[in-house]
Amino acid sequence: MRFLESVDSTNEEIKRIVSRSPGEYAVTSDCQSAGRGRGENAWYSPGVTNLYFSLSLDMGEMIEKDIYPVTAAIGVALHRSLSRFTTGELTLKWPNDLYIRGRKVAGILCEVIRTQAERTFIISGIGLNVNTNTFPPELAERATSLFLEEKKLFNREEILASLLNGIETVIDEFLEKGMETLLPEYRKRCTLWGRRVMIDAAEGIMQDISPRGGLLLKEDSGNVREFFAGTVELIERLNG
Ligand code: BTN
Repeated sequence: MRFLESVDSTNEEIKRIVSRSPGEYAVTSDCQSAGRGRGENAWYSPGVTNLYFSLSLDMGEMIEKDIYPVTAAIGVALHRSLSRFTTGELTLKWPNDLYIRGRKVAGILCEVIRTQAERTFIISGIGLNVNTNTFPPELAERATSLFLEEKKLFNREEILASLLNGIETVIDEFLEKGMETLLPEYRKRCTLWGRRVMIDAAEGIMQDISPRGGLLLKEDSGNVREFFAGTVELIERLNG
């Protein structure tokens, strides 16, 4: 476990560490100068107020497509742990963003690296808005923090410990039973089932999550498509 004051991105730092010396690590930093979100997005990372951390998980010889359920499982772990710190309605948005009362409080960026010895590591980077009380204008309407929801300051170490323990428990559960118990829990925590959504250029009803961690979208033609990446937008909200 490494605690840093500042770094470009904890995901980049842990990738550098794993490529030098393959293994399981956790890296956390007080601030990030180049925090990344999924796609082209940056992750707002002001100093000494939130949590930014990354884990490297040794998945042995797992092949790349098998990582999608792991990222869903980590979403479940975050949901379980964070429920203890907020009274607000906490939901998962596929694939693994966490929302409180409709505003994003945490995001997960999962990446995969393979070492020369053909071992697969999942790099799972987690950003959680803990004590931030303001956001830049472009995020203000969409983002929240535990502080803004609960009107009190939180101890970041306590939350970090709870999240790390929660993730460890879920990964053990996943390695033992696959998604058998985690999939029903994921479905229950995720809110958009049965709603009309857009995912990238496709439109349809959000039907289910597959055991492979993919989103099943039923198009108007009746055709069901499985997505492993993309951004889900609720159509009602798009049309105002
Ligand atoms: C997203 O919702 O788009 C994912 C956000 C992930 C942000 C975290 S903060 C710690 C780690 N380091 C990064 O650069 N990104 C992830």
